[in-house]
Amino acid sequence: MTIRLGDRAPDFTQDSTDGRIHFDEWRGDNWAILFSHPADFTPVCTTELGMVAHLKPEFDKRRVKAIGLSVDPVDSHAKWAKDIEETQGTALNFPLLADADRKVAQLYDMLPADAAATATVRSVFVIDAKGVVRLTLTYPAATGRNFNEILRVIDSLQLTDTAKVATPVNWQHGDDVVILPSISNEDADKLFPQGYRQVKPYLRMTKVAN
Ligand code: BEZ
Repeated sequence: MTIRLGDRAPDFTQDSTDGRIHFDEWRGDNWAILFSHPADFTPVCTTELGMVAHLKPEFDKRRVKAIGLSVDPVDSHAKWAKDIEETQGTALNFPLLADADRKVAQLYDMLPADAAATATVRSVFVIDAKGVVRLTLTYPAATGRNFNEILRVIDSLQLTDTAKVATPVNWQHGDDVVILPSISNEDADKLFPQGYRQVKPYLRMTKVAN
């Protein structure tokens, strides 16, 4: 099943390093990032899991719960977690799904096209507080992801959900934003009393509170 932006994130129940997870229940009314790894004891994944553990305070600030997935059993994950703690300077502080039966991998279409392949690709799903899929990413096995970029997209999603703006190229939290083209100048005057700069009628820049 292909998962598209705007779809309801499929619910599932699966084992993890934190016990059995009922996904919807586990997420509650938080956002979630669900991301897969090719397999346990692989070098790139070890660094990625360490980075997500380091970034936990940043995910917490945004009400985002992280959950990883690797297609190996819990006892293997538990051994790998020791290596992650030893080599990445932080213990795993979020659950890692033990998807040995590929149930979640198949549900979220995380397996590559090669029918013989058993390892997942590097998929990322950002799911909002209503359980809607807001971002999907697929990276090749040999390329580690940039989790700061994922935080940046979450910042953009959370901002643009509440303000009538969009975020321009390379935007970072605190930078100027663009006013939605569907907003008239008259409405923009009311919505953005701080003012805005009109570069073109369709390109109007403004500041929003951090
Ligand atoms: C890994 O560390 O996950 C990995 C590295 C190279 C190729 C495939 C996977």
